[in-house]
Amino acid sequence: MSSRRIVFTLLLLALLVVLAGAATVYWSKGGDGTGLYSRYWSADPVQGYWDPENFYQSTEIVEGVFESKLCIECHQGITPGIVVDWRNSRHAQAEQPVYCNECHGSDHQQLHLPTPEVCANCHQKQHGEFVDEARYGFPSHVLAMERAVDAPHFADKPKGEVQACVQCHSVATKCDSCHTRHRFDAAEARRPEACITCHSGPPHPDDETYFNSAHGKIYLAEGKDWDWSKPLTKGNYKAPTCAYCHMEKGKHQVADKSLWKFGLREVNPHTSKNRVLRERWIALCSDCHSERESEQWLSELDQERKQAWKKLYAAESILKGLRGDQLIQPAAEDRPEYPMGSLWAKQRIGFFEGQASAFYNVSGIERDYFEMWYFDNLGAYKSAAHGYSAGVERGHRKMDASLERIEGRATRLRNLSEAELKAGINRVPSDLWKSGAYTDYNREQN
Ligand code: HEC
Ligand code: HEC
Ligand code: HEC
Ligand code: HEC
Ligand code: HEC
Ligand code: HEC
Ligand code: HEC
Ligand code: HEC
Repeated sequence: MSSRRIVFTLLLLALLVVLAGAATVYWSKGGDGTGLYSRYWSADPVQGYWDPENFYQSTEIVEGVFESKLCIECHQGITPGIVVDWRNSRHAQAEQPVYCNECHGSDHQQLHLPTPEVCANCHQKQHGEFVDEARYGFPSHVLAMERAVDAPHFADKPKGEVQACVQCHSVATKCDSCHTRHRFDAAEARRPEACITCHSGPPHPDDETYFNSAHGKIYLAEGKDWDWSKPLTKGNYKAPTCAYCHMEKGKHQVADKSLWKFGLREVNPHTSKNRVLRERWIALCSDCHSERESEQWLSELDQERKQAWKKLYAAESILKGLRGDQLIQPAAEDRPEYPMGSLWAKQRIGFFEGQASAFYNVSGIERDYFEMWYFDNLGAYKSAAHGYSAGVERGHRKMDASLERIEGRATRLRNLSEAELKAGINRVPSDLWKSGAYTDYNREQN
């Protein structure tokens, strides 16, 4: 064959592979749910409130097409709290008030709940910024819903267990996460309480680390006397809140300075791209501190990360060694497919293929590593990012203890395997994992 023909054949093959891949993704998104695993789950009706675009269906109990005056009159009796909040909002007080039907429609059997696009009719600037955040990739607010439903464990677990994912990750699919309905109050969104409904809990302890920082302590002591109607710009606030730092000057993006992202991966802070992000942080800190001091504080964060990753790699290498020697039980092929029933199942290996799979259906040593990585490490990261030094110290103490536990378990596993070999014992894989109570329950409930 001539070389031209070989090249041509190879190109044709590559094209076919790409087409087949695209067709599979298209097919897999065509189920009752959304995202990559849409064929493996379906939504409970409540999901219509978290992701209205895809799942909301109007109530049909009231019939009629109503003018705004009638919406308010009737709802004053039915949902008085909503009407009070609306009356106190800028929407009600604007020169041309924004009435109920502007956001919900007028036909009561075909109501809709407003997606970000509905707000965009009047708030192009904020919506434009919000959508543009996608270029920074994950994690980000605009991609949050995708991220949750495309996580294999979302499709894998029973719906009752994963409903909360959608609630927090709905920051992508509606605009009332930080300025809540029906006040839609910018002042509310400037305060840290607006963020910590979602930014709390062990993998992302933003609340704890902020409130224990110098900034958070000043907010707790003095925040009640600040004038929250002022925008988040230089000179208006003595100490920064979450939005002051992460939504600088009211820009509706939280990913545009993010360098370490969630602390999930090791990054090199010195690439030219990351230098640019770091400069943005330093410029922000310099609203109130010297540039020099700000730069040094942030390089402390890099030091902390370097240490943390050293410990994590040490643990990971122990697990990889055990796995190479087939000492991790159950073996990959003895575990249920992940996510359940998918065409090309990802194996539940735990520690490096699909970190979150290590939540469940894994051996003890993998779970130890998971806790080290997901709780101890991420806690230390957020403490360092937010200036809570006792939290950094505690996170590293816990990581050290986890590493020690993992080393101990690894030694025991190796000793046990040697003893079994000597005694001529052969392990018989058990069916327990593939069809245990938890696995069966999941299969029925998702
Ligand atoms: C005659 C009384 C009446 C009028 C007029 C009325 N509503 Fe309602 N609305 C109701 C009742 C009753 C419910 C159901 C409340 C419940 O489920 O607790 C409701 C529910 C809703 C819901 C929530 C739907 C859901 O799925 O949870 C929205 C949104 C709503 N109304 C908007 C409007 C708008 C906009 C108008 C004017 C175009 C309007 N309503 C006019 C009585 C009325
Ligand atoms: C600026 C847009 C906007 C306006 C104006 C507005 N709403 Fe809403 N409304 C929303 C949003 C956003 C939600 C939450 C949607 C969701 O959960 O996905 C909502 C939800 C609701 C719900 C269901 C809430 C629940 O907690 O069960 C009702 C009922 C409702 N609105 C009634 C009204 C009435 C009555 C008015 C007029 C007095 C009104 N809305 C005006 C945006 C608006
Ligand atoms: C029909 C146009 C319209 C729609 C649709 C609309 N708004 Fe507004 N919004 C306004 C106007 C007008 C104001 C008042 C601006 C002013 O007074 O300068 C306002 C003000 C606001 C403010 C500022 C409040 C403050 O405290 O300063 C927020 C936040 C807001 N809207 C959020 C939303 C959200 C979220 C949605 C979608 C759920 C939405 N708006 C839909 C017209 C609209
Ligand atoms: C309704 C829940 C919710 C609220 C309220 C919320 N967030 Fe988030 N936020 C999320 C979720 C979910 C993610 C992760 C998205 C993903 O998985 O890609 C996230 C991600 C982030 C990130 C990470 C960006 C990155 O690039 O690493 C920052 C920073 C952030 N949010 C800041 C804030 C701030 C500041 C506030 C308050 C002004 C806030 N968030 C309010 C749910 C929320
Ligand atoms: C309490 C609110 C909350 C709940 C519940 C929640 N998340 Fe998140 N999630 C967040 C926040 C906040 C972040 C961003 C953390 C950060 O950047 O520090 C996040 C981050 C993530 C990320 C990592 C983002 C990335 O780009 O790497 C994934 C994946 C994720 N969540 C999936 C899920 C799934 C699946 C569930 C349900 C099993 C879930 N989340 C439940 C708030 C929540
Ligand atoms: C992560 C939290 C968060 C989310 C999500 C969010 N906002 Fe905001 N919003 C804020 C904050 C904080 C402010 C106050 C900004 C300032 O001080 O300049 C604000 C202010 C506003 C204002 C008033 C701006 C002004 O200058 O008066 C509008 C309008 C608005 N947001 C619309 C939206 C729309 C539309 C969406 C959905 C695309 C949205 N917001 C989603 C946090 C949020
Ligand atoms: C003084 C400014 C400041 C304040 C106030 C602040 N943060 Fe941060 N935050 C940071 C810095 C700096 C990082 C690390 C950024 C990096 O290098 O990636 C960070 C990291 C994060 C991350 C992970 C995303 C990332 O960029 O790595 C989230 C999520 C987050 N903060 C949320 C919050 C929340 C929620 C609050 C309020 C409870 C808050 N922050 C208060 C400065 C701040
Ligand atoms: C809006 C003003 C403001 C911004 C912006 C700000 N800070 Fe601060 N910061 C303060 C104040 C006020 C204090 C308390 C100073 C004191 O204790 O005397 C403080 C204290 C600190 C402390 C504790 C230092 C000590 O001496 O106890 C650290 C660390 C810190 N800031 C880091 C940062 C970093 C890093 C950033 C940017 C990511 C930042 N700050 C952004 C106002 C700010």
